[in-house]
Amino acid sequence: MAGGEGSGGSGTRTDPGTWTNPLRDPQDKRLPRIAGPCSLVIFGVTGDLARKKLMPAVYDLANRGLLPPSFALVGFARREWTDEDFSAVVHDAVREHARTGFREEVWERLAEGFRFVQGAFDDDAAFDTLRDTLKSLDVERGTDGNHAFYLSIPPKAFPEVCEQLERSGLAAPTGDSWRRVVIEKPFGHDLESARELNSIVNNVFPESSVFRIDHYLGKETVQNILALRFANQLFDPLWSSHYVDHVQITMAEDIGLGGRAGYYDGIGAARDVIQNHLLQLMALVAMEEPISFEPKQLQAEKIKVLAATRNVLPVDENTARGQYGPGWQGSEKVPGLKEEEGFAKDSTTETFAAIALEVDSRRWAGVPFYLRTGKRLGRRVTEIALVFKRAPHLPFDQTMTEELSQNALVIRVQPDEGITLRFGSKVPGSSMEVRDVNMDFSYGTAFTEASPEAYERLILDVLLGEPSLFPVNEEVELSWRILDPVLEHWAASGSPDTYESGTWGPRSAEEMMARTGRAWRRP
Ligand code: BG6
Repeated sequence: MAGGEGSGGSGTRTDPGTWTNPLRDPQDKRLPRIAGPCSLVIFGVTGDLARKKLMPAVYDLANRGLLPPSFALVGFARREWTDEDFSAVVHDAVREHARTGFREEVWERLAEGFRFVQGAFDDDAAFDTLRDTLKSLDVERGTDGNHAFYLSIPPKAFPEVCEQLERSGLAAPTGDSWRRVVIEKPFGHDLESARELNSIVNNVFPESSVFRIDHYLGKETVQNILALRFANQLFDPLWSSHYVDHVQITMAEDIGLGGRAGYYDGIGAARDVIQNHLLQLMALVAMEEPISFEPKQLQAEKIKVLAATRNVLPVDENTARGQYGPGWQGSEKVPGLKEEEGFAKDSTTETFAAIALEVDSRRWAGVPFYLRTGKRLGRRVTEIALVFKRAPHLPFDQTMTEELSQNALVIRVQPDEGITLRFGSKVPGSSMEVRDVNMDFSYGTAFTEASPEAYERLILDVLLGEPSLFPVNEEVELSWRILDPVLEHWAASGSPDTYESGTWGPRSAEEMMARTGRAWRRP
């Protein structure tokens, strides 16, 4: 274990002999994964992410009995709040956004460990106060010197906060304790800036203490890709260029970008979600079986895929981008991006992006992976579809198979979580007419337990020191290596196409597929 990282809390990290599968459900009664004593410090505690996701997730973990009594939550921000004000803010956030029901006794026990430190990132005294606060919590609350620092702040502030943590002595663990830093994306805006950012963070925290959040990896349906592929015999023989024609990974959203100009303008859809979420999904679909679920093995397989991935050329014919114009989202008339508050009237930020990739490996040679994402599309849906080759020969009258499309295995990541297998079936009647039917697995009907929120899973893993679901440095850099040529090409080629809100993106996206004789799925 590198760089002074202490015991993980679950006691499994240092001893490979007793290694337990980190992908095990934390609710597994045989080995409840309860975090050890620690405090979680959130920088950027006044932001949307903290209010909608992080604070509710902390409460949900406490409610599920997965946080120890010696847990503390510390907010750091410029607001002139007292501990009580902070507690009231967390209370409202929990009431509004927590997944599990509100229980007064859980809340009261948790809230006793809330502290707020007021200050700016350049304020040495505030970081000294933070250090003193954490020290007193170590004694009063028994947090044992174990501290996780969650940077839910703009990346330009990372260097300063990391330096402050180092200067105030907060980055270095003492004795058996641990220190971890949690970083939210974007991890840079291209390969070069990602390298810089990584080196700044790694100057202060060893890579083993850095947890980069890609919240898609915390989703149940995403972890289930591994179960589907490696716990079953059925799918593996089909999982290659022998049978798969192409793979489509779609992350469609119906929301617009009102209120998010500060983050999104100049970033765009490809940097926002393809660089991270969609390439991670692709890596999980395309990777080989890891020799174990030990984090390094899992990461090594994803790294191999990303290193073997390249853009289908020429880039202009095999990518598409667009920006939403006005239109209708259901019965609501919605403005275009340029009319949204905070966006420049001549903004060239893309809100839709589609790219075609190939993985240079024996398994995937010649199989394109199409990745697309967009805002203000027809509906909210994330899915991964393996579209199979057509049967080499159909011994039926052609008119009887007209409505038959290619077989497909669709992993429905959200919102209707499940898996669909599409295949042809005989239409009842006296003739041999064949049509598509779906065989369906749905989480809602197969399981009684509701899925935890991604942030619950990921925050718990940080506190346990389990890095499997966090992309490492190398994955981030390889993802930028894939995306950089596309971004450079787009930057040099003017404005994105416009598409009407409520549709499935710009015409150029349809054309990109049509050129290959394929079409996007209408999920
Ligand atoms: C975030 C992106 O990472 O994921 C957002 O920055 C996007 O633009 C969000 O809306 C979607 O997350 P989810 O979990 O709702 O699919």
